[in-house]
Amino acid sequence: MSSLLISGGTVVSATGTARQDVLVEGERVAALLEPGSALAEAIRTGSAVPDRVIDATGRYVIPGGVDAHTHMEMPFGGTFACDTFETGTRAAAWGGTTTIIDFVVQAHGQRVQDQLALWHEKAGGNCAVDYAFHQIIGDVDDESLKAMSELIGEGVTSFKLFMAYPGVFLSDDGQIVRAMQTAADNGGLIMMHAENGSAIDVLVRQALAEGRTTPLHHGLTRPWQTEQEATHRAIMLADLTGAPLYVVHVSARQALARIAEARDAGQNVFGETCPQYLYLSLEDQLGARGEQWGDFEGAKWVCSTPLRSRAEGHQDELWRYLRTGDVTAVSTDHCPFCMKDQKERGIGDFSRIPNGIGSVEHRMDLLFQGVRDGRLSVARWVDVCCTAPARMFGLYGRKGVITPGADADIVIYDPDGHTSIGIGPGRSHHMNMDHSAWEGFEIDGHVDIVLSRGTVIRDETGYVGSRSHGRFVPRGLSQNLI
Ligand code: URP
Ligand code: ZN
Ligand code: ZN
Repeated sequence: MSSLLISGGTVVSATGTARQDVLVEGERVAALLEPGSALAEAIRTGSAVPDRVIDATGRYVIPGGVDAHTHMEMPFGGTFACDTFETGTRAAAWGGTTTIIDFVVQAHGQRVQDQLALWHEKAGGNCAVDYAFHQIIGDVDDESLKAMSELIGEGVTSFKLFMAYPGVFLSDDGQIVRAMQTAADNGGLIMMHAENGSAIDVLVRQALAEGRTTPLHHGLTRPWQTEQEATHRAIMLADLTGAPLYVVHVSARQALARIAEARDAGQNVFGETCPQYLYLSLEDQLGARGEQWGDFEGAKWVCSTPLRSRAEGHQDELWRYLRTGDVTAVSTDHCPFCMKDQKERGIGDFSRIPNGIGSVEHRMDLLFQGVRDGRLSVARWVDVCCTAPARMFGLYGRKGVITPGADADIVIYDPDGHTSIGIGPGRSHHMNMDHSAWEGFEIDGHVDIVLSRGTVIRDETGYVGSRSHGRFVPRGLSQNLI
């Protein structure tokens, strides 16, 4: 079995930092060595020799990132998200994310088990990093409810429901109650897209009829009230049924206030946000006018829930909730669509713009900038990007932590490095997109080296991994529930 020592670095966990060396044997972490300990001394004096030593002096040694919300090749609005499992997981590796949890899609009329088999087929042998699945239940009926319990035994233990997209994915309250009762019974976790889709549909039709057709109106027709109302309803239905609830891609501060209140009351309710809601806004991005696309430029940032108004103060509140712990995890909701041929379907009708932003490569960097800006501690950075998502989704112990026995998914991060994000020369962008939602972002930090199960897949020369390295990781039940 090969051995590797990462020496001289500062190991960061969700609880703090320590000067430790990390010994990796094969695919696993073998030991954390205090400087001066017997084994560290033996290695230093040459009586025990690892096959390879990586000098991490001056750098952070952190668990590989866990991005618990991606949509590779997702079918949406008559097209497919333009990152495949191959291109999307390679971009993840570039950015220090070593596990993704992608969503299997079941829409009306489809069988859950067939869809799961299809996702296994798409991802198998095509991933640079390890992957797991959540299951979208777009059609709650007797058969899909039965499948939810079967999937638990297959390592798919969380189920996303939609309160938005009537006629496509939306579940009505009765269906939500039935799915929640099933989860309360089988130990699964309900993930909720909380927007009032029926109310939004009315606002969208009215806007289009009045000639308000640009991307800005995507945001204006999905106001915070529609998110807060749905979040409140989901929380009440979870309370009624006893199901644990994880609200995905929260962008409205009012929705988060509701989540915080439920948590204070002792309910198993959790919130997730995404980098776009922390940094970007309705005014600056959705309302943008650019040289190439004119007033359609904002289509790059059309996603749901939408980017929120800076004037309404959402972004600062989201950072605050990240510190308090009421936002449990930061995921990307990586769902990229190119402007050409995909987003441009919505010129003249914003409701036809495929929803989604690509960020899987940049999450670790974007959140580290929060550390540099004094918004998060370095331990909380590791927690929200690595440890908490692993615990939330039943991967902890194996992923999200550097401890003996864990998979050696490790990132060596240079806090004095620099990363320029975007598609221009010298900028970092490896996602399969014709634009970057993060063009021009400058990060005071840099992903230097990435290990996935003991194999270096990114080093200072770039990506050195392989297309079929990543494996499916069956998950246990959430380790976060009260
Ligand atoms: O705009 C988004 N979020 N697209 C992906 C699908 C979803 O609702 O997560
Ligand atoms: Zn969603
Ligand atoms: Zn999503």
